[in-house]
Amino acid sequence: MTKVTVLGAAGGIGQPLSLMLKLNPFIDDLALFDVVNVPGVATDLSHIDTNCKITHHLKSDNDGTGLATALKGSDFVIIPAGVPRKPGMTRDDLFKINAGICTDLAVGIAENCPNAFTLVISNPVNSTVPIFAEVYKKYGVFNARKLFGVTTLDCVRANTFMAEAAIGEAEPMDKLATSYNVRVVGGHSGETILPLYSVCAPHVYQLLPSEAVDALVHRVQYGGDEVVEAKNGAGSATLSMAYAGYKFLHAVLDAQDKTGIESTYIYLDESIPGAKETRQNLKNSCGADLDYFAMPVVLDKDGVKEIKHDILNRINDKERELLAICCKTLKGNIEKGVNFGK
Ligand code: 2OP
Repeated sequence: MTKVTVLGAAGGIGQPLSLMLKLNPFIDDLALFDVVNVPGVATDLSHIDTNCKITHHLKSDNDGTGLATALKGSDFVIIPAGVPRKPGMTRDDLFKINAGICTDLAVGIAENCPNAFTLVISNPVNSTVPIFAEVYKKYGVFNARKLFGVTTLDCVRANTFMAEAAIGEAEPMDKLATSYNVRVVGGHSGETILPLYSVCAPHVYQLLPSEAVDALVHRVQYGGDEVVEAKNGAGSATLSMAYAGYKFLHAVLDAQDKTGIESTYIYLDESIPGAKETRQNLKNSCGADLDYFAMPVVLDKDGVKEIKHDILNRINDKERELLAICCKTLKGNIEKGVNFGK
């Protein structure tokens, strides 16, 4: 029996994410939690003729025990809870509100399902993941292998935008987004997002003029802003984010039987093979000692099995320059989350 809990299930990301999870054959029990509107979302989804059972939980249920009930017995918790951006805002501007929300949810997880995998979508991911870690440490339940910041949307954008940019001479396959599996490292905000096009096949990007490569990297870094501006005050990416959250959770579920590789934002715990090398590489590149970083990792049934650190040895000079900028901003974002969590 596999139980998944969605925290923030009635929101813009939560609803399409919950729909996709209701269709997933690995999930037997789907618990939807939110502060409002979740009974309606869950009742609607419950009519879908798949075998996954749906329950709904409001924070105010049974004298405020809704969160605990949603989380009890959960194996995987995915968290899109929080407020989205409006035009002109950065993800960091959300910190004040979302940090408090994340703290309460982290306490709920630590108390009710301390062994569950935690997948954080709530922004700013660069800072909210450290908040979860600090709360878990306080409760003595922190396991770096099972705590993830979901950065899959950056990879999804990197694949899509590369296919769109593939120039005339490229092979027809190179114009398909599904031909790409670009590794994106760093964090999930602006210049902390670093798509490593130089080490990803197919190497179409080498055919692009350098300004086109710069524009491509910039578009991946600020792809979220494109959506915020297009939505014009009605929020940020919800559908593509739900897809990305689903894609990552599906990979984590799939890894219960066989290993797979995904990019994700994690704590560089030195007990994880490849963490020491990653830290050293970041230190050599930009002088920063970073505790958190998004990297391609090998997943297995216990979570992160290994960090594919070698990718950082293969990047080109331009990417190394961007890596230094990424690390500088990321360091501040991490400290903000750690200090709040403490
Ligand atoms: C984005 O990248 C919502 O953070 C999300 O658009």
